[in-house]
Amino acid sequence: MTGHILWNDRDVPYEQGETLAQALNRAGITHLGTGLAGQSRSVFCGIGQCQNCLVILEGKGPCEACRVLCADGLAVSPVGTPHD
Ligand code: FES
Repeated sequence: MTGHILWNDRDVPYEQGETLAQALNRAGITHLGTGLAGQSRSVFCGIGQCQNCLVILEGKGPCEACRVLCADGLAVSPVGTPHD
């Protein structure tokens, strides 16, 4: 492990080169937010095309978890109502 990101203030370890989606998934966090229709959102395409993995990056706003590399201390939270 090379660091930790924060998911709703929970430490989540990551390995160098991992995306947010990879680190969250390895930690068992698959629910990344709630869509406008109340549906659970998670990683779907994994290549930045579907935007089903949108999360909120502290200080930056929404981004695709499958496209952002982890950085130590990066704070991330779900879009919509959290379930995790
Ligand atoms: S999983 Fe489709 S954009 Fe991230």
